[in-house]
Amino acid sequence: MAKLSNETRASLRSRSRLVHLGRDVEESRGFVNVPPFRGSTVLFPDVAAMRAGAQRFTYGTHGTPTTEALRSAWTDIAGAAGTVLLPSGLSAVVGALMTALGAGDHLLMTDSAYGPSRHFADTTLKRMGIETTYCDPCVGAGIEALMRPNTRAVLTESPGSQSFEVQDVPAIAKVARAHGACVIMDNTWATPLLFSPHAHGVDLAIEAGTKYLSGHADLLLGLVSANEAWFKRLYRTVDGMGIQPGPEDVYLALRGLRTMELRLREAERQALALAKWLAARPEVLRVIHPAVPDHSGHAIWKRDFAGSSGLFSVVLKPVSEAAVAAMLDGLELFALGYSWGGYESLVIPFDCTAYRTATKWAPGGPALRFSVGLEDIEDLKADLDRGFTRLSAIA
Ligand SMILES: Cc1ncc(COP(=O)(O)O)c(C=O)c1O
Repeated sequence: MAKLSNETRASLRSRSRLVHLGRDVEESRGFVNVPPFRGSTVLFPDVAAMRAGAQRFTYGTHGTPTTEALRSAWTDIAGAAGTVLLPSGLSAVVGALMTALGAGDHLLMTDSAYGPSRHFADTTLKRMGIETTYCDPCVGAGIEALMRPNTRAVLTESPGSQSFEVQDVPAIAKVARAHGACVIMDNTWATPLLFSPHAHGVDLAIEAGTKYLSGHADLLLGLVSANEAWFKRLYRTVDGMGIQPGPEDVYLALRGLRTMELRLREAERQALALAKWLAARPEVLRVIHPAVPDHSGHAIWKRDFAGSSGLFSVVLKPVSEAAVAAMLDGLELFALGYSWGGYESLVIPFDCTAYRTATKWAPGGPALRFSVGLEDIEDLKADLDRGFTRLSAIA
């Protein structure tokens, strides 16, 4: 077998890239996969090599062949200049914010952002003298009015991972760039396969690898990719904090990478089928899914995204909390759990009213978020059908 040439590599489509990137058969002594390199100490052949500082690997915290394999593959599919790895999606959010911000700076964050990202801004960043303003996720170019002379970063998460507002990232990025602010995006829902962050003006793109990259609910991982303008600063900041994921988790993430597009496309297909079925249920007020044409952000989604993943929400017609609990507690295939993107289907009840500060969450009934897995869709519908019977019996 010949080595992948640069020309062939440049021509590969995403599925082929996911299979072939980040692997070096010679380095793995003929085995298909890069093994999980463990280790703190890296040895040098002589003093001259130590002094030159040019050896590829020098210390466990700075990287291993395993971390390098994932970083280089992710950089490629994200269309980035470089990527860093962190031990969770939340630590990736923290790493990106620490890269962009310093004392006295101002941060703009969309109101629908992941709760713990807000918590970090409201506690640690505040203590460090960084002020955060929350904005309407649908603000688009209107973010201009919220920019201050000291606004140094805008954090978007599109779509919001509970309420699914699709953000006009290119419009936000244009304004932020004009003000010299860093554009940060949590791109976990789409992954770079369905939304190419840096091509849409994002400087630092966050991925909770815990979700679709893992795909098996068995690891925690975060990735931040950066464009040319921001990669050096990102690398220096995260490397300087000395936080990195363990080798087994990086190995599992590399394994997940190989099938990520297949799983994601199947999750998309299943979620769209389930969304359609749910929209026709008499118990459902509305479905909140960016790829469904009546969604308020559908036009932007269609313009900017190459697909949708398996996570979406529905709003039920008003019923009691007890009726919702009876529906969910008795489900046999949909499990109750927060961390999504695995092969198994999940559901959570949620209510954004507690944390929203810039916009009002008034959906008109109890809201449920589904992460649709790989079970047979007819079995999933049957599970929910029995759930709706329990709900109606109490409602
Ligand atoms: C949109 C989003 N970003 C980040 C995270 C954090 O990922 P992790 O669980 O790996 O910390 C989550 C987790 O649910 C998430 O939904």
